[in-house]
Amino acid sequence: MIKVNLGGCNSFVNDAEYKAYVEKAFTAFDVLENETGAGNDFLGWKHLPSETLASSLVEECEAVKNAWAAKNIDLVIVIGIGGSYLGAKCALEALSHQFAKQLKTKTEAPEIVFAGQNLSEEYMCELMDLVQERNAACVVISKSGTTTEPAVAFRLVKKYLEDTYGKEEAAERIVAVTDKARGALKSLSTQEGYKTFVIEDNVGGRFSVLTPVGILPIVLAGFDVREMLKGALEMEEACAKRCECNPAIQYAAMRNALYAQGRKIEILVAYNPKLTFLGEWWKQLYGESEGKDGLGIFPASVNFTTDLHSMGQYIQDGERTLMETVVSVEKSNRSMLIENDPQNLDGLNFLTGKHVEECNAMAELGTKLAHIDGGVPQIGLSIERINEFNIGGLFYFFEKACGISGYMLEVNPFNQPGVEAYKKNMFALLGKPGYEEQAKELQARL
Ligand code: PA5
Repeated sequence: MIKVNLGGCNSFVNDAEYKAYVEKAFTAFDVLENETGAGNDFLGWKHLPSETLASSLVEECEAVKNAWAAKNIDLVIVIGIGGSYLGAKCALEALSHQFAKQLKTKTEAPEIVFAGQNLSEEYMCELMDLVQERNAACVVISKSGTTTEPAVAFRLVKKYLEDTYGKEEAAERIVAVTDKARGALKSLSTQEGYKTFVIEDNVGGRFSVLTPVGILPIVLAGFDVREMLKGALEMEEACAKRCECNPAIQYAAMRNALYAQGRKIEILVAYNPKLTFLGEWWKQLYGESEGKDGLGIFPASVNFTTDLHSMGQYIQDGERTLMETVVSVEKSNRSMLIENDPQNLDGLNFLTGKHVEECNAMAELGTKLAHIDGGVPQIGLSIERINEFNIGGLFYFFEKACGISGYMLEVNPFNQPGVEAYKKNMFALLGKPGYEEQAKELQARL
């Protein structure tokens, strides 16, 4: 269960102000629950934990895993960008051994690498250097089936797999996750006979981590996705309550109360490098959902204590437009004591008998007090430990709070009109048919 601690906001938002924002959050919650707001055709994510646990999706993903294990596949290239990438990447980073690649002891699960999340030629060349040394398969994920970055990566990977294994075998090593009817990826997959998983129309990209978009890569990587769904289900139930005890209401209310005071930047803070991509996933969720119509809190993220040595100065002392949301982990999954050193040349014997995580916890507490003293309010979110259950819970919690918060801001949290502008310019500059006029205008400006 995710616990919200608003104590770090006490000196910034008084009780009456907070209560007023809780009332606003209730109004937004009703819009979300009754599905009466803008973007209400994109609310399929609300019941994904319960619906997916009751479906055969996990078994179908496991069948792909088993079929590829029978072929001794040791590398899976997962192609996707934005919502078709960040959720799986976040879960895998959180759950994997951080030195898995360097360890001599390998797990049975194939290594997962990502592509299609950039347009770097060097990235693709270096990926191919790896793929050539390995027994590879590919999952290509694109809801629209038309996104340029993953489409380019997939064209290259598809050719490599066909050249290496032959067309028929390549088709058994490619699985597509896409819309049930629309888009080039769907028609290509049908023509080539690929196994496909469907992303339902009513789930937007950044809310899709608990669909095959996230579930298939997480299963392939060998993690317990049912536990993840159970953790999400716990939050689906907790966040469905119309009460002040609802953690999504608490978080949405407080961040909007702070925004109204001019806190225009929210920094998601973690004290464990495994959660770095939680910040990346969260930034997309909140940035794309709320940043529109000239409004929205700018989402940023840091990893402490690492970034205390880079961003710490600004956060402590720079322009006072910041708020922090800290994701705390109560218990470490591993244990390491700092032992006594009779020489004490480093002067660290005062730490004798303490766990490394105790130092981390004191850094977290010390930073909290320092940042509050420096004028940065802090919302606390805590999970017991990093595992599948709690990562699933965080996914659902943040999604539900985002829907409520977006409606509090009076924007449509489920569209992303702003991301089209760069795409149109890029297509025009690349000479895509139909963009000739725009290309002339752009060329004249360059
Ligand atoms: O949230 C969104 O809708 C976007 O960020 C998409 O996830 C991203 O653009 C990728 O789109 P697609 O899955 O259609 O390739």
